[in-house]
Amino acid sequence: MHICVVGTGYVGLVTGACLADFGISVTCVDNDEAKIAKLLDGEIPIYEPGLDSLVEKNAKAGRLHFATELAPAIQNALAIFIAVGTPPKNDGSADLSYVVQVAESIADNLTGYKVVVTKSTVPIGTGQLIEKIISERTNGSHPFSVVSNPEFLREGSAIEDFMRPDRVVIGARDPQAIAIMKDIYSPLYLIETPFVITNVESSELIKYASNAFLATKITFINEVAELCERLGADVHHVARGMGLDKRIGPKFLHPGPGYGGSCFPKDTQAMTEIARDAGRPFKIVETVVEVNEKIKAGLIDRVRSAVGDSLSGKTVAVLGLSFKPETDDMRESPAIPLVETLVADGARIRAFDPVAMESARALLPPEVEYCSDSYDAVEGADAMVIVTEWNEFRSLDMERIRSSLKKAVVVDLRNVYKPDKMREQGFDYHSIGRSAKDLP
Ligand SMILES: NC(=O)c1ccc[n+]([C@@H]2O[C@H](COP(=O)([O-])OP(=O)(O)OC[C@H]3O[C@@H](n4cnc5c(N)ncnc54)[C@H](O)[C@@H]3O)[C@@H](O)[C@H]2O)c1
Repeated sequence: MHICVVGTGYVGLVTGACLADFGISVTCVDNDEAKIAKLLDGEIPIYEPGLDSLVEKNAKAGRLHFATELAPAIQNALAIFIAVGTPPKNDGSADLSYVVQVAESIADNLTGYKVVVTKSTVPIGTGQLIEKIISERTNGSHPFSVVSNPEFLREGSAIEDFMRPDRVVIGARDPQAIAIMKDIYSPLYLIETPFVITNVESSELIKYASNAFLATKITFINEVAELCERLGADVHHVARGMGLDKRIGPKFLHPGPGYGGSCFPKDTQAMTEIARDAGRPFKIVETVVEVNEKIKAGLIDRVRSAVGDSLSGKTVAVLGLSFKPETDDMRESPAIPLVETLVADGARIRAFDPVAMESARALLPPEVEYCSDSYDAVEGADAMVIVTEWNEFRSLDMERIRSSLKKAVVVDLRNVYKPDKMREQGFDYHSIGRSAKDLP
């Protein structure tokens, strides 16, 4: 079977490499010529653990191909996976222009029966829109089916998530398309992955509802953390006490600097737009979006109050720039507004991230100084701020950090360290939701 994956970004490249690893012949297409040139050269354009060896293995085996030309890839494929971006428009709704472009190209190159699969996160009704575009452009000359197959992988553990997902969701009407999708995912069938087979609209909504729910859970614990600070409680004890309840579960109950990344911010916004358009505003998610913005905006106050009244002329070491560990993705990273405000307030920034500094350069103010490691970043700084919980920040030599800092101030936005221990070591330590003084 031949498959074409259109869009070779975080989702498309992982999807293509994993499907090739299932034994399928895959062509990954992207209109970004530089990206494809890198891939043809054996270079992986993004940081994703394990992806380099998976791509290399399957390219060598002749199952994974890269191209910029869409037409031949469509003509040769039985199934075409659309994995292009669906970024937010100014009003928060999803920009479908890339998806529409691909649907038009598919229509123009339809040579026989094809399954058109949306892997991109798309608003409810997009499957119907794709069907309409293809039908109208081809005058019904060739049969095709549209399938929704949302992706749930997490950057940083994308391959494991794709190879061992909690579920595979397939939204389709046509039994032949469902059979082809089951065939594509047969290795997952064998390991007893649950399959949710439903209609296109339900499938499209499953993706948005899932992300909106997870963003709600994160925001919920972030608000609990703020309450803990006022009430003398410890958010980790509260989260553990809540999470042991099987109805709640322990995941996504870790407080932090507000959710970021390429999905939650845009998908929660899009969800509110979709609901408003449907005439039934989604109040909870609207509030989540608003609260998350407030939490992110409040980070600067945490740093300000830790450093002292004015940031002007102060040096702040920022550890971690990507929106989460194990990725170089900077999209909607909480580090961006934080660093921008610190620079605007006159602070000098010495930043370090294990993999995201190259992508950060394009997004952060030019004044930011990029350092060779954490110890280099804290040299002479008035405070150290941990923004991303990379593993290497969990076991820093704190004596060395203290002696390198000008002032022993640490703002830990990921609660990586223990407050008591940090204070014992002579730090003025600030974290999130841990005001309890009498923990047993
Ligand atoms: N990143 C994630 O963790 C994640 C997880 C689940 C779902 N998603 C969804 O998957 C989709 C893709 O996300 P991503 O993070 O991989 O995006 P991305 O920006 O990393 O990749 C998108 C790619 O599509 C390419 N592209 C755009 N238009 C094209 C066209 N007409 N022809 C060929 N290539 C084209 C771009 O050049 C880019 O390389 C989005 O809808 C996103 O919401 C993302």
